[in-house]
Amino acid sequence: MSTGNTKGGARATSTSFSRSSFLAACRCEEVERTPVWIMRQAGRYLPEYRALREKHSMMEMIASAELAAEVTLQPLRRFDLDAAILFSDILPPLAGMGLELEFVPGIGPKLNNPISSTYDIDVLAVPPAAKVMAPSIEAARNVSATLSSEEFADRAVPLIGFAGAPFTLASYAVEGGGSKEWAAVKALMYSHPAAWKRLMTKLVTLQADYLREQAAAGARALMVFDSWAGLSLGPDDYARFVAPYTNRLLEALADTGVPRILYVGGTSALAEQVAAHPAEVFGIDHRCELRRTAERIIHARVAASGPTPAIQGNLDPIVLQAPWRELRAHINGVLDNACGLRGHIFNLGHGIHRATSPDAVRRLVDYVHGKGRGVS
Ligand code: CP3
Repeated sequence: MSTGNTKGGARATSTSFSRSSFLAACRCEEVERTPVWIMRQAGRYLPEYRALREKHSMMEMIASAELAAEVTLQPLRRFDLDAAILFSDILPPLAGMGLELEFVPGIGPKLNNPISSTYDIDVLAVPPAAKVMAPSIEAARNVSATLSSEEFADRAVPLIGFAGAPFTLASYAVEGGGSKEWAAVKALMYSHPAAWKRLMTKLVTLQADYLREQAAAGARALMVFDSWAGLSLGPDDYARFVAPYTNRLLEALADTGVPRILYVGGTSALAEQVAAHPAEVFGIDHRCELRRTAERIIHARVAASGPTPAIQGNLDPIVLQAPWRELRAHINGVLDNACGLRGHIFNLGHGIHRATSPDAVRRLVDYVHGKGRGVS
């Protein structure tokens, strides 16, 4: 249980997290300064992460609750970030289902026995997340305890748990790795709709269980990554083959009581459909103007008499490698775009690039805090 970690933990938790600007923005409440965190903030742009990676493979680090907790906290010890995100990846649950996952240096994730027939789908296991994702869940518990402890007492930094959305996971499971055309996954989707349904249902079952375990371990927000959906599918196919499953996943999290954040890569291609998903926060990628896409999402929600969502994003990650005056202009662009939005969480539009200097991240975080404005 998450409360049994430290004697003072529960007390610190109830006082400190109510001050979290990140959680307040998730609820579209007024904040004194714009909260900021960074997708892939625990990662290779940090020398202390690289030092650990020289000694351990990515899979070893994910499989060790101690190392995963340590890496989760690394960026928080350097920068004044407003949220932590658990160090792991979206793909390890696929290994728990029976796919052989490895992270190949210089290439990225690879599944050595990708799904190539409907039989492969039928034999995929749906184990309890507590069994196959145990180290990540334990890491979430340990990080939550640390964030509730004396070390972070004056900062109110909540932990974000996360998982991959069914479509992005299915595309890795079928393509065997990253893809630019998604030909194999689309062929499966169009040719074998019943098998597609079984695959997506299995993914939803495991991912919902895993996200719920993370919330039980102390995660105070849950983020679902659908990195490829808006980049690979048009609105009709998204509505038929993807949206029902993403809905089911998000609905299964409703009674956790924590905000649900949905990030769909290629957001602007699907903004109205994204808005129809049951989430409190929508992550927006950097390929679109934040204001216009946010307005489309908010208008669609209002038209459907739904609650106004918060918006997260959307600086282009590569801009962090630009000279400061250019970076600053882009940060101002995002802040100006978000001005007047109730509930804006500053973030990148995609994961941080490995060649980013930690100094640029520090400047970004401090600038957003100094310049960020609350809602009037
Ligand atoms: O954000 C965080 O700091 C938390 C941990 C996290 C990682 N990956 C760590 C990671 C999270 C939330 C992810 C999500 C993820 N992983 C997504 C969805 C978000 C997105 O970026 O669109 C996707 C599609 C993946 C799959 C993945 N994992 C790829 C394509 C790669 C290789 C390319 C890259 O950016 O490194 C990974 C590897 C990975 N995941 C690393 C880290 C820190 C680098 C591994 C290493 O040290 O070599």
